[in-house]
Amino acid sequence: MDQKKIKDIIEDNREKEGSLLPILHAINSSYGYIDKSIIPIIAHSLNITEAEVSGVLSFYHDFKTKPPSKNIIKLCMAEACQSMGCNDLYLKISNLINNDNNTSIEKVYCLGNCSLSPAAIINNKYFGRLTLDKVTEFLYNEDK
Ligand code: FES
Repeated sequence: MDQKKIKDIIEDNREKEGSLLPILHAINSSYGYIDKSIIPIIAHSLNITEAEVSGVLSFYHDFKTKPPSKNIIKLCMAEACQSMGCNDLYLKISNLINNDNNTSIEKVYCLGNCSLSPAAIINNKYFGRLTLDKVTEFLYNEDK
């Protein structure tokens, strides 16, 4: 992360009410994540403790502390998808991508595609009646 840019973001948001959250959102938007190495810079700039910054960072699930994966699977875990086996599918997909550093899975709650449960979004593409075979095909066999 570019420390000059981080310091500019901090300066741009310093006077805002509750400036820590706008700063973290701005960094997360710019980079897709917030590297933990910049926690001391933020804490020092706002005259708060590193523990305070870390606490806010870990409280909000929108803040990521690692660079985003190339492939992101957002699997719906809400009621209709649960009735169609999303919990089992989540475990199977997790096992499938266990050693794949380019792919991550996130739990989301209702994608508005309940009639085609279990539903997911993979790399911004909607999938219905998702199966492990469809995930495998999309991730590893399809020309993208
Ligand atoms: S419950 Fe899964 S898409 Fe609505």
